[in-house]
Amino acid sequence: MPHATSTDDIISTLNLKRKFYESLFKETNTLRKKLERKSMLDVCADSVLATVFMEPSTRTRLSFQFAMTKIGGRVIDFGPVEATSTAKGETFEDSMRMVDGYSPDVIVVRSKVVGAAQVAADICSTPVINAGDGTNEHPTQAMLDLYTMQKARGKIDGVKVGLMGDLSHSRTTSSLSYALDQFNDVTVYYIAPAELQIRPNVVASLKHIQIEKKENYESIISNLDFLYVTRLQKERFTDPAEYDRLKGSYQLDKSSLSKYQRLPFIMHPLPRVDELNPDIDGLPVAKYFEQAKNGMYVRAALLKRIVSE
Ligand code: CP
Repeated sequence: MPHATSTDDIISTLNLKRKFYESLFKETNTLRKKLERKSMLDVCADSVLATVFMEPSTRTRLSFQFAMTKIGGRVIDFGPVEATSTAKGETFEDSMRMVDGYSPDVIVVRSKVVGAAQVAADICSTPVINAGDGTNEHPTQAMLDLYTMQKARGKIDGVKVGLMGDLSHSRTTSSLSYALDQFNDVTVYYIAPAELQIRPNVVASLKHIQIEKKENYESIISNLDFLYVTRLQKERFTDPAEYDRLKGSYQLDKSSLSKYQRLPFIMHPLPRVDELNPDIDGLPVAKYFEQAKNGMYVRAALLKRIVSE
């Protein structure tokens, strides 16, 4: 099969530059203002998005689907994996050939397999967006995370971010680290028990940001602009006993946060399990639901850019 990769594929944040984010966020703000006045636009009329999710998702799938619908395009969903011929043994590669053959304008793909989005991009002539490939990357999550930071703080340069939780299995914190590396004077604290620390290959790819590893947040929380919490990813543990041992090793609630005079904004890619107690949801620093909502607007801007090119 010929190598059909589109130049518009979004597979990783490693190759995205600061200018990309700046123009994406400008377009996001423009679209957002229009969508707040008028709930449906026709800027992508006649465009079709195909969503292929081979791993569970609420936010990424829905926000892409809502985004495309709100900007006037149409959406075809691959459906639950068990209702497709994957259940009969069809390969991922053949499934992607089929989706590409029906000529959508953009394909969003999620898989539990590291590298699957690149495999899809190599097969498809349609632009492919990585909606998460195993523990590797989740580039559009990083886009909405940066957008949320910029909205909350006004700028990314000079930001101090704590990334806390199951960093070893996290694709959101790797993509976000690469994205933050495009900005000036950024400090990232990786906060996790030793077993869950950030993967060495992620750190090795960073060129500019200052990093520090910590086992807990207590000594630095007041210096942070953002504390970005992630869940312990049960589905990625090979040893259930190891999951049970580490479960509950980092948790935030109103009482634990009340000790600090100054709190950072609290972010989370969601879903949460038990690491963020719902009793903090009403705090002004709790940004995670706004963060998820921002995702729809950022993804609308990204889809518009890809289908317009
Ligand atoms: N943040 C995120 O990727 O959420 P979903 O798994 O629900 O898409």
